[in-house]
Amino acid sequence: MKKKIIEEYNDRIALRYDLAEKGKFKETPTGKIIEKLLPLVKKEDLILDLGCGTGKSAKPFIRKGCKVIGVDISSKMLKIAKKKLKKKFWKLYKCDIEKGLNFKDNYFDVVLASWVLEFVKNIEKTVKEMARITKRNSYIAFTYELWKKDYKIQSKKESSLGKGLLKPIPKLLSFKVYRHTPKEIEKILIKNNLKKISHEKFISCSYSKPPEKIPVFYGMIISQKR
Ligand SMILES: C[S@@+](CC[C@H](N)C(=O)[O-])C[C@H]1O[C@@H](n2cnc3c(N)ncnc32)[C@H](O)[C@@H]1O
Repeated sequence: MKKKIIEEYNDRIALRYDLAEKGKFKETPTGKIIEKLLPLVKKEDLILDLGCGTGKSAKPFIRKGCKVIGVDISSKMLKIAKKKLKKKFWKLYKCDIEKGLNFKDNYFDVVLASWVLEFVKNIEKTVKEMARITKRNSYIAFTYELWKKDYKIQSKKESSLGKGLLKPIPKLLSFKVYRHTPKEIEKILIKNNLKKISHEKFISCSYSKPPEKIPVFYGMIISQKR
């Protein structure tokens, strides 16, 4: 079957993706989620990591003693993730989260999506799915790209990845990035009966190697299912 463009792109960047934390703007959505969420999870919690990539977002939770299920659309990302972490604590599946999450209701102690939901067209549908599969009083955490009218590369609600960057990404590999205001995200939380624990803004960067890095503005939600 023909690969989805986003799958092709992530397969291609898998090897250099880990460079994003080097140089300027080294704060990443991954680091921010870990900082806030790790103290809240308990040893042996069952965690779902949506768009797990090379395993960076899952690693500290596995170290703490949690069991993690990672899903990703890119076979290459999953291949790197598999090599990095011991299989005993870590199950990986290839899946497109836009197509829904194939897990039972009220199943996970924590569901997280770090640096992923900006690639999902219908964030509301995905957050609804995240809420469905999370147990009551358990945590849902995610980052999203902010819609910033006054900032060239994030001034549109949706645009092709790389638009506005110094070196545009080839058209063939360009897919959409979707942006939101904090208000829109908070409305989605209320609709899905999620209690806001924290909602922060932060600056991270594009994936490019230093010195080509360009700041990107994000929001991060930590919430709890009522
Ligand atoms: C920027 S990386 C983040 C990886 C990891 N969560 C982290 O924080 O390091 C984004 C990941 O989302 C995955 N992804 C993008 N769209 C997806 C989709 N529709 N379904 C599943 N995974 C997706 C990509 O393949 C990539 O591995």
